Amino acid sequence: MVPIITIDGPSGSGKGTIARLLADLFGLHCLDSGALYRLVGLATERARVDPSMVERLVAIASAMQVEFKDGCVLLDGEDVTLAIRTEQAGNAASRVAAVPEVRDALLQWQRNYAREPGLVADGRDMGTVVFPEAGVKIYLTASPEERARRRYNQLKEKGLDANLSHLVAEIRERDDRDSNRSVAPLLPAPDALVMESTALSIAEVLGQVSSSVLRVYPELAKKGA
Ligand code: DC
Repeated sequence: MVPIITIDGPSGSGKGTIARLLADLFGLHCLDSGALYRLVGLATERARVDPSMVERLVAIASAMQVEFKDGCVLLDGEDVTLAIRTEQAGNAASRVAAVPEVRDALLQWQRNYAREPGLVADGRDMGTVVFPEAGVKIYLTASPEERARRRYNQLKEKGLDANLSHLVAEIRERDDRDSNRSVAPLLPAPDALVMESTALSIAEVLGQVSSSVLRVYPELAKKGA
């Protein structure tokens, strides 16, 4: 079995940034599972399909052609890198992600990323449902205000519109929906290392996570710093 590191946590906890840095450090593949749900959310909105139309949602999730190329995300050949990052796409993602049949349609797709030389996967249920056999499981969290502030800075950097107090409210609403859904709710795996990152810098989180990775997968030291 290849090394698998899962990083789960709520919206804006920094898991995407840490997952990418970790994958680069150790030369591993990186799966941004949230992007898959965002793609289904975007495609569903564009097709004007209501999230209650389960069969249509599954058809969309199963038929979409997705490519991750040079930091860009293509949906059926169109560059949607920015379109899937808006708060609207995030909310659409959170709604379709609550549908068990959509989660099932994306399950095997996600598992196929576990190949040589290994994988860093970030999301909500990477350690609990998709890769329960992962050797390292991290659950990264931070206060809603800090997560909203980070999301605000990210959106501004990308030149997207943002309003801090709306972001705090949306983050709370999304946390609530992601945590209380009946299938694969946002929860730390029983064997996850829970990290509260409100007062930590990216470098500090990365340092602690990479130490945990090397304790379990010492062979990765050859590739890492
Ligand atoms: O991590 P993110 O903000 O890009 O995720 C967008 C939404 O997708 C989030 O509100 C919940 C959902 N999601 C999920 O249910 N399971 C995952 N593994 C990843 C994301």
